[in-house]
Amino acid sequence: MISFLDLSAQYKELKSEIDAAVARVLESGQFVLGSEVAALEEEFARYSGAQYAVGVNSGTSALHLALLAAGIGPGDEVVTTPFTFYATVAAIGYIGATPVYVDIDPSTFNIDVRRMEAAITQRTRAILVVHLYGQPADMDPILDIARRHKLAVIEDAAQAHGAEYKGRRVGAIGDLGCFSFYPTKNLGAAGEGGMVTTNNQEYARTLSLLRNWGEERRYHPVLKGFNYRLPAIQAAILRVKLKRLEQWTDARRALAAEYDRLLQDTSVTTPPTLPDTRHVYCLYTIRSENRDELQRGLAAAGIQTAIHYPTPIHLMPAYADARYKAGDLPEAEATARTVLSLPLYPQLNGAQVAEVAAEVARLAHRKIQEPLLTRR
Ligand SMILES: Cc1ncc(COP(=O)(O)O)c(C=O)c1O
Repeated sequence: MISFLDLSAQYKELKSEIDAAVARVLESGQFVLGSEVAALEEEFARYSGAQYAVGVNSGTSALHLALLAAGIGPGDEVVTTPFTFYATVAAIGYIGATPVYVDIDPSTFNIDVRRMEAAITQRTRAILVVHLYGQPADMDPILDIARRHKLAVIEDAAQAHGAEYKGRRVGAIGDLGCFSFYPTKNLGAAGEGGMVTTNNQEYARTLSLLRNWGEERRYHPVLKGFNYRLPAIQAAILRVKLKRLEQWTDARRALAAEYDRLLQDTSVTTPPTLPDTRHVYCLYTIRSENRDELQRGLAAAGIQTAIHYPTPIHLMPAYADARYKAGDLPEAEATARTVLSLPLYPQLNGAQVAEVAAEVARLAHRKIQEPLLTRR
């Protein structure tokens, strides 16, 4: 049995340090924000190459506050991808703005910058890019389009802690970066958590106010804010894990390279990477024309897989939008039918990767083998 993810293996690796960090918070009696959160913010800002980082209680809250801090509001349009976890689009809805979808580039799973300009109207105020699965979106042309049209660039880096584009860490490339510390992410809390990064001091101040009721000081709100505070226990645990993140990312990348090598002659498509980027493989997602059959075959062999994501946002009933129908965003729709994420986490070992790859190879034969065999 190979599980898709094993969070208890991660805890075992760091048990004594995590237990000590939790005990430190319990003894301090300071459970909400405070010095642990401030220390994590400083350490995470340094890690991401951003000047400021503001801890919040989830990646979704990070997106919500980033959009508010950038001044986006009702009636505004936000250009984004239809192929993401729906929190990206939900956050646009929270502020009363309208998502405008640009189809993806199927080779990277990320928003297709070549189609972006056509989606921009008089009402467009921001581009919300997602670094899906841990692969950076193609930021240079995105920043160029944003500059020409005076748009804010918000990065949904929920799956991309430490990912790099041309030597720069994601979250510090656009105006605001949004991270999730959901337990399954590359840096995960023992519960919920999130972070917004920025190089803009004014945004950082607004974010700090908004996450804590808009309070400048106790019972003196200067903005209508939220209770989006990051608990101190989560910050203390995240600080322990942050120290391991580079090592874990290297392990993810090495295992991904091994999958790439072992699957190269099969009929599945391994995840391509843009040149000059550092993909951090929050998810190792392949494509297969026979995805459902492959997933069933792997399950029968005791190998857990997952589908990220089975439906693009514009085709989800909860996000139905009269402007979009099936067929409008064909690349996202075809990708949703073919993607399959294989087990990948830092504590997985090479033998397990080899076992998964062997089973995938057995189920998804070589592309050129079938015609050769039938000809013989
Ligand atoms: C791309 C993306 N955006 C946003 C989120 C939301 O983060 P959270 O679950 O921490 O609210 C997630 C993760 O769940 C995600 O994968």
